[in-house]
Order: sequence, then structure tokens, then C-alpha cells
Amino acid sequence: MLEKQIAVCYNLLKNICPNKGEAQMAVIFDNEHRRVILTTNDTEYVIEIIRERFLGHVYYGPKTADGVPDFAYRIASFSPYYEGFFDFQPDMCTTEYSYFGNGDFRCTSLKVRSANGSSVTGFEYRSHRVFKGHAPIDRLPYAEAGDSDSTLEITLWDSVSQCELKLYYTVFEDCNVISRYMKLTNKGTSPVEIEKCMSLQCDLPGTDYDMITLYGKHGCERLFSRTPLHRGNQSIYSRRGTSSHQFNPFMGICRRTATEEKGDCYGFNFVYSGSFLGEAEVGQECGCRVQLGLGGENFGWHLSPGEVFESPEAVMTFSAVGVGGMSRNFHKFTRDRILPKEIHKNRPVVLNTWEAVYFNIDEKILSDFAEKAVKYGIDMLVMDDGWFGARENDSAGLGDWWANPVKFKNGLGAFVKKIKKTGIKFGIWIEPEMVNPDSDLYRAHPEWTLRCAGRESMLSREQLVLDMSNPCVVEYLKNSFEDAFGDVPIDYIKWDMNRHLSQVGSDFLPPERQKEASHRYMLGVYDLYRWFRERFPDVMIENCSGGGGRYDLGMMKYSHQIWASDNTDPVWRTRIQYGSSLAYPASTMSCHVSHPGDDPDEIEYRFTVAAGGILGYEMNILNMDDKVLERIPGQIERYRRWEELIKTGDFYRLSNPCEKIYGSYYFTDSARNTILLTFVQLEADKDYKEIKLRVSCADKNAVYTDALTKERYTGDQLRKGITVTTGTEDKRYYRMWELIRDRA
Ligand code: DGJ
Repeated sequence: MLEKQIAVCYNLLKNICPNKGEAQMAVIFDNEHRRVILTTNDTEYVIEIIRERFLGHVYYGPKTADGVPDFAYRIASFSPYYEGFFDFQPDMCTTEYSYFGNGDFRCTSLKVRSANGSSVTGFEYRSHRVFKGHAPIDRLPYAEAGDSDSTLEITLWDSVSQCELKLYYTVFEDCNVISRYMKLTNKGTSPVEIEKCMSLQCDLPGTDYDMITLYGKHGCERLFSRTPLHRGNQSIYSRRGTSSHQFNPFMGICRRTATEEKGDCYGFNFVYSGSFLGEAEVGQECGCRVQLGLGGENFGWHLSPGEVFESPEAVMTFSAVGVGGMSRNFHKFTRDRILPKEIHKNRPVVLNTWEAVYFNIDEKILSDFAEKAVKYGIDMLVMDDGWFGARENDSAGLGDWWANPVKFKNGLGAFVKKIKKTGIKFGIWIEPEMVNPDSDLYRAHPEWTLRCAGRESMLSREQLVLDMSNPCVVEYLKNSFEDAFGDVPIDYIKWDMNRHLSQVGSDFLPPERQKEASHRYMLGVYDLYRWFRERFPDVMIENCSGGGGRYDLGMMKYSHQIWASDNTDPVWRTRIQYGSSLAYPASTMSCHVSHPGDDPDEIEYRFTVAAGGILGYEMNILNMDDKVLERIPGQIERYRRWEELIKTGDFYRLSNPCEKIYGSYYFTDSARNTILLTFVQLEADKDYKEIKLRVSCADKNAVYTDALTKERYTGDQLRKGITVTTGTEDKRYYRMWELIRDRA
């Protein structure tokens, strides 16, 4: 009891005469209270240095007029504390980072095994500093800092392991996003082993949260799930060597009562494309701990004296205006701080050959495609799989990146130049990280595959995975692609990756570093991406992993867009695009109109869905009905009008197509001058149903005209809702409204 009273007095004293320290951009140090306050446009994040030793987490949420609450000291039996620090019980407090074996029994941010065999550590505060911008993270993708962004660096020290830990917080003010990563330096004389590493820990108050995750499988990725958090630990993860179709690294944690438009919602994501772990643990009293990082199952690192390990970056956001606000924060952040800068240039409307001819790449067919595609207003022909080595099907050729001499009699360069004379741009498919056992590369270098000595390597799609942790492999690939594309005027690359990693071992790494293979694989992949971007700066990259198996912020750093899914069925695509929109902007989603059959209405339906992202086509235009093809120029013309809005506009979801039989959403510019509203019914309804589409951001004093039908609506009408009626029997209602504000 006495202990509790002392803690309360301490907190009261702290709040008398608040003497704010020197302001430094978005990071303020309140020296009086030993607090660091990180501020974005709408949010505040507060850290307290407790007794010059521990890092307490005080607050994350909306900006507060009356100051943030005191650091909450909670005391419980059975909860360890250091002598003299009875009220700071790590297990009962909200902290910035946590250490295995150090009296905090919740999930741990960091586990490091010292030379003495013990994995117990306890890092203590030493100093902190603030600097403008973002420090580079070695070999990893990370967010670009804008002019107003600044970084807090906190240094901690563990005297037994002799390791220095630095925690980084970059504040992306206008995006309402804060990023986190850590850096561990072994300053001792013996190696240490990193056994678990999380980039972000965020201890949230209270326990009444729902967790939003994006789950799925190949062909059905990023489906929406929202479930109440239960007591204990719940997680999302990938052990597959990719960020995966099965769980996306995004996590939303929102109050149970939060809706699309109202309520508190936190969002977390990882700027990384390999295996990961995201955890949410509801503990005994002090709320919900969220962590995101590499984890400890598919990751380990041997840190020799003098070596430094830097974790990938994780990001977090907070919205007081519901799940929609969280998504819009992440959309802006991804557009402004992650995606390549040329993102705002016009994207080509592509015609991709895959679902049209599969591996049957042939000069004549492609030339015919090009000629016809140009006629219908398509900008680019993308030659998918099947053009290289001995590739006739998926059993041979991967690794041999030269044009098949039978398919391209005069070489790739001559062919591409000829095709481009028709007035079309040219894109090409590659899968650099893979090799078929039936390939010249594998015959020459079987030791360049991921494998474990004495164990049989497993195939998937008849392919093995190259050991991207080995710099010789990355060098070989650079040379291969230099030879293949050095003097070929390609405009676009589709970079595919079609299996998950098993037998993850490396002939290149010594035994004590085998556990690093999975993370080093990603570092090699990122090196190759960076080389491509630098070597072919004008070439656009579309990332793909059997569709959206690596739909993550790491890949977005190097690719302009991502093939959202191998599933091009418009019903599933509506759900996949909806799920993707929780975390990622529409400018990242490559969406193709495929197989409309011979019904012009079907190609319009499919276009309506594909116009929710970056439009393309994927079908055999050589044997399609003209009355269907004739719809394409009009679609492209409309899409061009909307493209900027789709790529950069604010996005509002109106219905969840994973729960309802329709999807509906709109894009709008910041001045609310144009609103592009979409409604897509996914299946015929049993009875007619009237649905109100409420465009709540319309200016209520304005009048809007639908440029597609010339119908007029007052802003007030739009806010109250446009009524649509669902179709029954075999009719599915769909429609777009291009609402333009009337000039005064
Ligand atoms: C999987 C991709 O997702 C498809 O679009 C296609 O490129 C095939 N691979 C080619 O093998």
C-alpha cells in the first residue's frame, strides 16, 4: 500500500510545473519529466525514461489538449522487480521494448544469447538524440524521410552481453505514421547469438480490441478477417521465406466498437518481404502488447565482436476516425514514403500473354497481339513466362536467362525493336530467384541452391530456390540480366517468385550462420532489386509471387505495382482488392480484365472491378468477338480520366464484399471536386434490395453531375446516400459514378 502511495506522489509531483524542453521538429524532449514526445499531424506517442534506467511507454493515440496520462505503475504479487525499484515491475508496465528472462513474462522483443550460454539480458537506458530525416538501414528497404520527418535514437546497454542496443523511431508527420527498427552492436570480445528480434513493440491500454488480419492462400490472398482479441497470445506469421499469401504482415488492432468511419484503430505493418512474426498478447492487467518483426523461429543471427545487426523497419499508425482513417494513413505513407518516386507517371495499360497463351511464346503470335492491341488503345505488351532457355513448360529453363534461339530467330533485341515499331511498349517476365534442375545453371552449379547437407531438397512447381545469400549467385544474375537486357529496349519487368522456401540451408554459410540463411536470402533479393532499379531506371517493375504472395512494403520500395492475385475472377478480385485496401493504396494493385467471353456486358463488369486499381488486360484478343473488343478503347479512355484519382485520391470503403454480396467504395481528391464511386454486386440476390451508398465526404453545399450519365445530385443527397437496387436471378447490378462538382 505504502509503495503504491509513493508511486502516486511521484506522478503528481511530475505534473506540477511542466517545463517543456527544447522543441526539435516532431520530436520534443520534456527534460523535466524525462519524456520524449513524438508528434504527427493527429497523433502523439510518449516515452518516459524511468529513473534513468528503464524505458516506459506512456501513450499512443490522438493529440491530447490536457496532456497525456501518467505512466501507469501497477504492482502485483509474483511480479519481479529490482531492489529499490519495487514499483517498476516490467511485467506490469507498458514498456518500449522487452528482453527475454528479465521479469516480463509477455512476448519478448529481443532474445540474445551471450557467450556464457545465457539468453537473459536487461538493456538499460544510456542516452538519446534526435536527428532530421532517416538513417539508412543497411541492405534493407526503408521509408524515405520527407523534409519535416525526424528520427529519435535511443541507446541502451547490457553490461553482461556487452551489447549496445539502439532503438529508432522515425516520425512521418503528415502521414500519421511512426516507424521503428533496432540496431544491435556487439561491443564485447565474444560472439553473441540473436535468437529473437522484433522491430516494433507497442503496449496498448485496455483489452477490448478486435484484430484485423489479411489471410488467404494462393489465388485468394489478403482476405479480410476481424476477430475479438482473446486473453493470451495470438499471432500472424510466415515461415515460408516470403511475406506469403497465407498471412500479410499487416495487422489492425481496433476498439471493438470501431467502424469504418468511427473509433480508435491502430495499424501495424512490416517493411519486409520474408518470414515474419506479428503478435498481439492480451495480458493479465496492463492491456495488449503488439509486436512485429523477424521473430525467432525462422531467424537467428551470429554477431561476432564488432559486428552490427540492423532489423527491418516496422511501421505503426493511429486513427481516431475508424478503420478507414487507418487505411488512408497507410495509403498516403506508402505513396509518399515507400513507392518509387516515378509512381505518379502514367502507368501503361498492359496486355499480358500469360492467360492467353501460357508457355506458347511465339514471334508471330506476339506480333499479331501487338498490332491488334495498339488498335484497341493498349499501351504495352507483356511477354510472360516461356521466352527463355529451354522453357516449354514449367519443368525446364529457369536460371538460363537468354532468349530461346528457336523462338527468337534473330535474338530478343531485334524482336523487341520490331514489336515496338507497331507503337506499343514492351514488358518481359523473369523469375530470378529460381532454378529448374533441368537447366544449364543447375547442371553447372547445384551448390547454388538452398539445401541442407545430407538432406533431399524438395521441389515445388518443379523448381528449386537459388541461394540468394551467396553473393556469387546475385552476381551471376546481374551478369545474366545485363547480357539479356543490356541492349534490349524493354519498358517493364514482371518479377515473379513461384515457390516457398524449404530446406533453407546454404553451402556458402558456415555452420554457425546457417540460421541466417532465410534473412540473408532476402538481403540478396533486395540487392538484386536495387541493381535493377539503378541499372534500368526507366524500366517499370511489377512484382509478383504467384500473384500477391509478396504483397508487402518491402517489395513496394522497389516495384511500382504488384500483381494482386493469380485469381482474375471479378468476384474474388473484389474481395482481394478490398482486403488489400486495408493496408495498401490502389496504385499498388495490378488488376487485369480477363476472359470476358463473348458478352459485351461481361467485359464491362470485369472492367468495373479492374478499375479499382491499375488497369490491364489478360486474354487472347486474337480470337475474341469484335463487339467485346470494341469496348476496350472506351474503357481505357475513361480509365485515363480517372487514373490520377485512383492512384493518389483518398479512398473510402462503403461495404465489405467478404461479408456482403456487393462491394462499394469511392475515391476522391482532397478538395472533394471529383468523386469516383463504384458499386459491384457479386452474385444475384434472392430478393430485390435497396442499398444506400452514402458519400459522406461530398460537399453538402455543392452540386455534382455524373459525367457518365449527366444525372445531377446535391452534396446533401450524396451524403444521405444514392439508392441502388440489387439484381435478382442472373442479373448482377454494377455501376460507376463519375461525380464532378458543378462550377459556381
Ligand atoms: C505466376 C504468375 O502469377 C502468373 O501471372 C504467371 O506469370 C505465371 N507465374 C508464369 O509462370
